[in-house]
Amino acid sequence: MTTTTTSGVAKLLLNDEEYDLPVVVGSEGETGLDISKLRAQSGAITLDQGYGNTGSCMSDITFIDGEKGILRYRGYPIDDLADKADFLEICWLLIYGELPTKAQIGEFRRDLTVHTLLHEDMKKFFEGYPPNAHPMGILAAMVSSLSTFYEVFGKGDAEEDVYLNICRLIAKLPTIAAFSYKKSIGQPFIYPDNDLTYCDNFLNMMFAVPSERYRVSPVLSHALNMLLVLHADHEQNCSTSTVRMVGSSQANLFASVAAGITALWGPLHGGANQKVLEMLRRIRDDGGNYQKYVAMAKDKKSSFRLMGFGHRVYKNFDPRARLLKKSCDAVLAELGIDDPLLDIAKNLEQVALEDEFFISRKLYPNVDFYSGIIYRAMGFPVDMFTVLFAMGRLPGWIAQWKEMREQGGRINRPRQIYTGPQERKYVAIGGRG
Ligand code: CMC
Repeated sequence: MTTTTTSGVAKLLLNDEEYDLPVVVGSEGETGLDISKLRAQSGAITLDQGYGNTGSCMSDITFIDGEKGILRYRGYPIDDLADKADFLEICWLLIYGELPTKAQIGEFRRDLTVHTLLHEDMKKFFEGYPPNAHPMGILAAMVSSLSTFYEVFGKGDAEEDVYLNICRLIAKLPTIAAFSYKKSIGQPFIYPDNDLTYCDNFLNMMFAVPSERYRVSPVLSHALNMLLVLHADHEQNCSTSTVRMVGSSQANLFASVAAGITALWGPLHGGANQKVLEMLRRIRDDGGNYQKYVAMAKDKKSSFRLMGFGHRVYKNFDPRARLLKKSCDAVLAELGIDDPLLDIAKNLEQVALEDEFFISRKLYPNVDFYSGIIYRAMGFPVDMFTVLFAMGRLPGWIAQWKEMREQGGRINRPRQIYTGPQERKYVAIGGRG
């Protein structure tokens, strides 16, 4: 679809020469200057370290207005989707552009359930990791390994073949995630149960043991569904841009998503949910003095940051964080859990939101601030938190990879401003001191 209009030109004056830059306007009125011919015409490039002002693509998938705290998937507001939509509907919506019909979602569910098993040989891989291996490392390696078990498709392949790999990936990611957890605690793998829903099956693989009866709690299942929906896409964030970057070389879906998982792992991105919980525990163990940590976060001599605070795009509030804060209270109440870390989190938020340092820099709690408290209440260990983020973000990565492929663009290849030494002569080792 890609609804854009060109609306006049911007003028750039460089070394007394004037250049016209076409102005591109998106369907929500966002304005971009098209500089794609600038270097060819002027010899100059633009410099934007960290890409805060760079549009890397045009996309129909997700809209964010960071000033107003708006997040929409294919036009649907996140507030409407979070509580009502099923995660698999959201997968379909993001990947195929429309909410599925009853027939489409029925077929999609069936196609996913027949792909939940891992190839038996892949199970052996888990034996090779040390017991304390971080599950994000395992997840990335396993997803990359899928490309060695299944045919990977090139640029002009049929839609059905791509669909098959999309189903494999969505179906197998929970199995890989649960197996990596079971491996870390020395319990036997629980195979997928295709009579269960996507969320119930994952919870069963995580928490059931062969020797005991396990019934999936509807409270946990509902909370997990909502968490996955809230994380499902977030336009051109670090991991999604990585998926598009890798995919632009025509690397296959599994390889591109494996790269996205690795990008997500970092503490400034999806890894922040684990770091938030570690920070809250640290504050608790330090007597609960959250003011001390706010002061540390403000201190320019300290590298400490309030994890779960700040966002490149949201400058008012993160709508996902608001929804999570509300559901945090509800989920903990339903599970009958009174978590002192939640009180510390709320106090920390309150102090930070009233502090000039955070106000002037527009730093608000982000999606990672409250998600960890819910995951913890649900019984997930801390190092699985980012894996849960990856499971949620998967349809977004797939949708963005597919869109990029269909747009048929060029390989992504930024330029640079070189700042190193100018040409100099090589001196052989004998002539050096
Ligand atoms: N605590 C204290 N100060 C902060 C924080 C924080 N969490 N975040 C930003 N700042 C300060 C920063 O020091 C800088 O101050 P100054 O202008 O005086 O130098 C100013 O705010 C702008 O920060 P920035 O690093 O230039 O902002 P950015 O847009 O490059 O980074 C961010 C965004 C999310 C990486 C950053 O806010 C951060 O490190 N937050 C903590 C990690 C975190 O929670 N990450 C999850 C992000 S949301 C989910 C996701 O994407 O996965």
